[in-house]
Amino acid sequence: MSQQRILELRSILDRLAYEYYVLDQPSMSDQEYDRYYQELVALEYEFPQYRDPNSITQRVGGVVLDAFTKVEHKRTMLSLGNAFNLEDLHAFDERVREVVPNARYVVELKIDGLAMSLIYRDGRFVQALTRGDGVVGEDVTHNVKTIPSIPMHIPLQGEVEVRGEVYMPNASFQMLNEEREKNGEELFANPRNAAAGSIRQLDSSVAAKRKLDAFWYYFVNAQEYDIHSHEEALQKMSEMHLRVNPLRKVCERIDEVWQFIEEITEQRNDLPYAIDGMVIKVDDLDAQNRLGSTVKVPRWAIAYKFPAEEVITKLLDIVVTVGRTGRITPNAVLEPVRVAGTTVSAAQLHNEDMIKEKDIRIHDDVVVRKAGDIIPEVVRPLLERRNDTQAVYHFPTHCPICGSELVRFPEEAAHYCINQDCPARVVESMIHFASRDAMDIDTLGDKKVEFFHKQGFLNTIEDIYCLKEHRQELIDLEGFKEKSVDKLLDAIEDSKQNPLEDLIYGLGIRQVGKKAAKVLAKHFLSMDALMAANEEELVAIKDIGQITAECITAFFHEPKNMELIAHLKGYGLRMDTEAEQIQESSFSGKTIVLTGTLTQMTRNDAKALLESLGANVSGSVSKKTDLVIYGEAAGSKLTKANSLGVMTMDEDTFMKEVNGNEQET
Ligand code: IVH
Repeated sequence: MSQQRILELRSILDRLAYEYYVLDQPSMSDQEYDRYYQELVALEYEFPQYRDPNSITQRVGGVVLDAFTKVEHKRTMLSLGNAFNLEDLHAFDERVREVVPNARYVVELKIDGLAMSLIYRDGRFVQALTRGDGVVGEDVTHNVKTIPSIPMHIPLQGEVEVRGEVYMPNASFQMLNEEREKNGEELFANPRNAAAGSIRQLDSSVAAKRKLDAFWYYFVNAQEYDIHSHEEALQKMSEMHLRVNPLRKVCERIDEVWQFIEEITEQRNDLPYAIDGMVIKVDDLDAQNRLGSTVKVPRWAIAYKFPAEEVITKLLDIVVTVGRTGRITPNAVLEPVRVAGTTVSAAQLHNEDMIKEKDIRIHDDVVVRKAGDIIPEVVRPLLERRNDTQAVYHFPTHCPICGSELVRFPEEAAHYCINQDCPARVVESMIHFASRDAMDIDTLGDKKVEFFHKQGFLNTIEDIYCLKEHRQELIDLEGFKEKSVDKLLDAIEDSKQNPLEDLIYGLGIRQVGKKAAKVLAKHFLSMDALMAANEEELVAIKDIGQITAECITAFFHEPKNMELIAHLKGYGLRMDTEAEQIQESSFSGKTIVLTGTLTQMTRNDAKALLESLGANVSGSVSKKTDLVIYGEAAGSKLTKANSLGVMTMDEDTFMKEVNGNEQET
């Protein structure tokens, strides 16, 4: 009896949530809703045997994870190719019509949030995954469950995967930022960052408070349910109570598509959520399959991106900042202005040449926009508005922080402060060392580095590893507690085991980015060998150029840097890496191309496996290719291989060969 009532209440409340959050047409008052809700809470409390993680009472948050679990997507989560104008759309249309002459399109809004995949099993919501790199995403089920418009049950058996966009409505975004401002917290730059920040929370009560919502735009395995077109799939999702955006249009031709784009562009600023473009999709699902995908994007869809919004404001001043490599960046100080959803008061100017080329002067009226809708930039000055109040900008000759003379290296546009002890450089280099892509000491962010520097605890990178000697003093600092200090010190200790490439990158050698650091670690296998390398040896490495080689040798010639490495070694940081074990195999020395969808492992895993077997994996087929390994729905690469007479092998045979190879060794 009580079980029956519990089920009944759940179904009433699910229905009400759907009416309220999806249809925006509640059929009952809030008080009535609350009565049902309280009755359910009481019954679930009394009869714990009938509790259900998918009950509406379990959505409110409160799940706290230690870390996000990485989960491989069953089917790669693709991104979209971009179109910026009508011409690009015509080109897309032509490509489509070569394969599908009578194609029809569905045109949708491109919601500016973060992509999400939902999995339902036998009608029950079981998992929500972020896109991640498209192959592996993160399980954020606990947070996504707090979004009230997402149904916990759907009327379909089997495994259903739908994808869409989780976003923060403009009103929630504004409220959130107002509250953060009041609390002296850092503001989110735009609703997308706010949504992403909310989903990347280990504690789901944070996401629950953030008032997120979602639109669903892709029924991944629709064809298993006898659905033949995208429009049909959207309708089916809608019937299943998934929130589908009604602002869409089925179009036969590109000029119709363009007309709809123009219509939406007009309404864009009146929408209650941010969109950054439109998405054009081939409607017929069989046609989509025939068109297939490249590694990253489907050939059956494209994103039209709105041009960046441009506004006019006054350039009040130009100031320079000093980066970790000593690089000087000029920044425009602007009269605050709203652009693409946020107030902008500064913009990067890159370097002296750019200021000269654009002839940007202090007190100019300038056109400003956000590159990629994020980073503000000065597009150009309005020459026609010039009067005699503008002043030509003279690039500084000396570092604004330490006063030493700035240097401009041949063939480089930037100026540098080459004083290694420049306080600005010291702080920036420590921030870089601890950053995610380098040593990933996640509890040691910009603010903490700056603060500890001011307090005298951090003056060089190696000081990071001496912080533990100041444990008590740190705990005594305002705003710090024993637990947070210990967490920080533990993270620092853990970082000692990081791979060599992270350390090389973390050192902040000029020109040595993430990729070069990896190449160097792989080639030299130890810090000692890298330090001993001369320019010739370095240039001989694929991917390392002359300038990078010079920067590396210059860095390791500096006694200070040699001392730093010696100290880090003394603190127990990992200074070497093991050579990858290359097994001799029938694939050794061969140039191999992977194509199509592999079912037994991801493309990346297959690539790594082949490389460990001594093969060279390439992205394109040519006469030099020795072998093409193909999975399901392989397309042009396989055709090309056949036409060139290149040997091909299907996935099963490949797996058998690999197992054979393993048994031999
Ligand atoms: S379709 C294979 N439709 O835009 C299907 N994407 O720039 C791929 N997005 O990663 C996605 N609104 O996160 C699609 N109506 C819409 C969309 C949409 C927003 C996002 C999505 C995608 C990104 C690509």
